[in-house]
Amino acid sequence: AAAEAEREAVSRAEQSIGRAAAILRDGGTVAFPTETVYGLGADARNTEAVEAIFKAKGRPSDNPLIVHIADASQLDGLVTEVSDTARRLMAAFWPGPLTLVLPLRPGVLSPRVTAGLTTVGIRMPDHPIALKLIGESGCPVAAPSANRSGRPSPTLASHVEEDLSGLIDGILDGGPTGVGLESTVVQVQEDGSVTVLRPGGITSEQLAAASGTAVTTDPGIERSPDEEEIVAPKSPGMKYTHYAPKGALTIVQGGTPEQVSGWIDEQLKAAAGRGERTGVMAFEEHIGRYAADCVQSLGSLAGLEAAAHRLYAALRRMDEEGVTFILSEACPEEGLGAAIMNRLRKAAGQRVVRL
Ligand code: TXA
Ligand code: MG
Repeated sequence: AAAEAEREAVSRAEQSIGRAAAILRDGGTVAFPTETVYGLGADARNTEAVEAIFKAKGRPSDNPLIVHIADASQLDGLVTEVSDTARRLMAAFWPGPLTLVLPLRPGVLSPRVTAGLTTVGIRMPDHPIALKLIGESGCPVAAPSANRSGRPSPTLASHVEEDLSGLIDGILDGGPTGVGLESTVVQVQEDGSVTVLRPGGITSEQLAAASGTAVTTDPGIERSPDEEEIVAPKSPGMKYTHYAPKGALTIVQGGTPEQVSGWIDEQLKAAAGRGERTGVMAFEEHIGRYAADCVQSLGSLAGLEAAAHRLYAALRRMDEEGVTFILSEACPEEGLGAAIMNRLRKAAGQRVVRL
């Protein structure tokens, strides 16, 4: 039944793709589904159109946008060079949740897309609606996640409506997105090694296997507010608070599962006693241990795809329920767990309790 509902949603959206493509060509903004999260698209060559994205999102102008393409042949017009390692990664993961930061070909894209950088982030999304829209529009499509800046990225068309209704020219509804977290952003270094600028749907382990080179993570992507020495992240977006629910979120890490659930349970009771509306995000294995006003399962620890898929909706749910105090379990930082913990820590403003 879920598969059929999704097929119906896809076919409804397909009927609107032609109109949406025309909106893009005419310099408008359209939200569309990708396999990661919904994006807010505009013609990347049109400065006015790109400015409309920044305005609708309330996005800081120094944070560059990812350019989406539907066919590898679009690449050469946008960049000056594609290294062998970059080609290997594209062959392995495009279409898919991988963004490659490449040397920008000057004079093609609006300078607002790249926020004045000499590089541009490019990806080919793995979603039939996104590919059709980009193809029919004939534009390279600049598209950040289709949320108000600072809010969790949208994994449903209704999330886009919540944040951007009245501020954009159209929304294509393709049902729930698959991965649920944004693409992995990487840059290939001079020596051929790969640096992860933002962890995401493609894991470091997958990158290493496909590239055959060393994969490191940019140390600047996370910092705690009290850290004195600030390492500037190479992906400008990583320096902003993101995904934050309105309630105060804290992550609980370390200890045995029993210690974690015991501590969380105690804190939830104390918070309820203070008159807080409480929320908890936990893995399926432990979810029965908690009583709170809003309990959100992140799925099983045995397959973190569910946690990635549900995380942003769970965070939005806390806001809908008026939750003021939220505790979340943590997961191991391997594979997809690295991206999940990166987003969770950002949502928590780096508030982590270690048991
Ligand atoms: O999955 C995704 O990537 C989604 C969907 C819509 O494709 N898009 C997305 O876009 O997450 P956005 O704008 O929310 O995040 C783009 C990230 C930011 O952290 C930005 O700083 C980084 O990519 N980025 C873009 N261009 C860059 C560049 N030239 N160099 C370094 N980082 C760049
Ligand atoms: Mg975003």
